[in-house]
Amino acid sequence: MEWVVLNDTMQPVKFTVAHRGSKLSDKDKKDILHWVKTTRAAYYATGTASAETANEPLQPLLSHIAVDVKKATLGKKLFNGRSLSADSTLVCSGCHAYEKA
Ligand code: HEC
Repeated sequence: MEWVVLNDTMQPVKFTVAHRGSKLSDKDKKDILHWVKTTRAAYYATGTASAETANEPLQPLLSHIAVDVKKATLGKKLFNGRSLSADSTLVCSGCHAYEKA
């Protein structure tokens, strides 16, 4: 979203030809970029980046992530269950080694 606003590729040319005057206004662009920035800061910042790069989409990896038992239990259940299989015939662990997941 940020990229398309910064590079002015929104909306596609074919759309603006059919819908005259439908380009994003400067205020729309400013609002969208503000939303992207605040949302990224609130939900995706890892706190591991320098001040200059703190709001970049790619963040340095955390050196340690605390284990959330509920998430780990759900992951194990999904990995070994058939619920993610379109026709309920396959399990992730049927092809992937659990220790390497
Ligand atoms: C029928 C066998 C099979 C099943 C079942 C399967 N996978 Fe895979 N998976 C593969 C293969 C083969 C690759 C490697 C594809 C490639 O490299 O082109 C792969 C690749 C992946 C990758 C990318 C790994 C990487 O290093 O890029 C992920 C993530 C993944 N599978 C997750 C899952 C999950 C989650 C499930 C269960 C919902 C699942 N797979 C079920 C065979 C399977």
